[in-house]
Amino acid sequence: MSMVNAFSRDDFERLDETERALIARREKVLGPAYRLFYEKPLHLVRGEGVFLYDAAGDKYLDAYNNVASLGHCHPRVVEAITKQTAVLNTHTRYLHEGIVDYAEALTATFPEALSQAMFTCTGSEANDLAVRIARHVTGGTGIIATDLAYHGLTSAVAEFSPSLGESVTLGAHVRTIPAPDSYRQSPAEVMEKFGRDVSAAIADLRRHGIKPAMLITDTIFSSDGIFAGPKGFLKPAVDAIHAAGGLFVADEVQPGFGRTGEAMWGFERHGVAPDMVTIGKPMGNGYPMAGIVLRPEVIAEFGPRARYFNTFGGNPVAAAAGKAVLETIRIEGLQQNALEVGRYLMDGLRSLSHPEIGDVRGSGLFIGVEIVADPTAKTPDAALTTRIVNGLRERRVLISASGPNANILKIRPPLVFSRENADMLLDVMGDVLKTV
Ligand SMILES: Cc1ncc(COP(=O)(O)O)c(C=O)c1O
Repeated sequence: MSMVNAFSRDDFERLDETERALIARREKVLGPAYRLFYEKPLHLVRGEGVFLYDAAGDKYLDAYNNVASLGHCHPRVVEAITKQTAVLNTHTRYLHEGIVDYAEALTATFPEALSQAMFTCTGSEANDLAVRIARHVTGGTGIIATDLAYHGLTSAVAEFSPSLGESVTLGAHVRTIPAPDSYRQSPAEVMEKFGRDVSAAIADLRRHGIKPAMLITDTIFSSDGIFAGPKGFLKPAVDAIHAAGGLFVADEVQPGFGRTGEAMWGFERHGVAPDMVTIGKPMGNGYPMAGIVLRPEVIAEFGPRARYFNTFGGNPVAAAAGKAVLETIRIEGLQQNALEVGRYLMDGLRSLSHPEIGDVRGSGLFIGVEIVADPTAKTPDAALTTRIVNGLRERRVLISASGPNANILKIRPPLVFSRENADMLLDVMGDVLKTV
């Protein structure tokens, strides 16, 4: 399966000479596995706040990047990293206050039961660790994930990341279930069906002699197509996995750190209690850091038996970056901003009232816009979606697309996105919709 919004070699000849030369050098030395975004790839050299600048000095409105969640190169984070890099950077085998301060501040943003944290460098590593812990605690091996989930790149995690495509084999111990499609199902159906699908997956695992270890979901279903509601639909699913003796892992790598506006963590919107929460991406606003926050009971046995060390995970510079991120979210009121600007943007997108806009959904600054050929039949229109994404890119506004039919615009700007930025996006989107 090809990646949504990926540059295709078919467009190579249409690029100018400098771009062609850089792509050729890149392919020669990086090999064939990497992908570039857009029909005309972007060559970025600088970022500031919600704007990115290319090599020619052109300015782009970034409505896509959720790593630089506080805005690109946020001064508070840059300063925290710079200062700590100049003083000391070691690892968790020495006593250091930074990591303890940070872990205390981080766990304080979670419900009381989730009171311990372990640090990694990437979200993949966090999910990989979650699998090891879940297997240890439950004695099971079975994993349930959604049809188009992405949870990471290690061997163990790729086995339950179906969005990697058909050439990446799913584990024999993995069962996938459809994401809750709030556009094509009624709220009552969504509420009931997702839990029923998890129960069916548990039954199927058992029939094959596999004991369930965990259910894992991205709590806003980012790669499945962005499904935020109705709130509470996760509850029956979490109850089902708990009743079967398995754990619930909330993957907050994309929706976490205030992005959904209504809560700091996506799972809170559904009123569920995860056993483990995996986090990453915006955690260091670009500094590579990730981790797990969990209930102490879950790690109580695994911890003493399986010693944990991660050379770079939780180092003093990471701790300084992470702390600056949490402080900035609080000081700048970014969760509230995500809520308000997100609502404003979703209302604006709906009021474009274009027949091809089948659905506008999301929470806070995590928005999906489903593009359809026929609003009554709800037929996905991937070709039009690609034209919209590239039309916006030509007009210097950056978004992307996702979903099983590649027809859902994915709008996920830094949390500092203002109403003025939203107006700019809406103006350009209106123009593009008229011309495509
Ligand atoms: C929901 C989700 N989980 C986990 C990961 C893996 O994170 P990383 O790329 O930091 O390994 C990703 C990355 O895109 C993700 O979107």
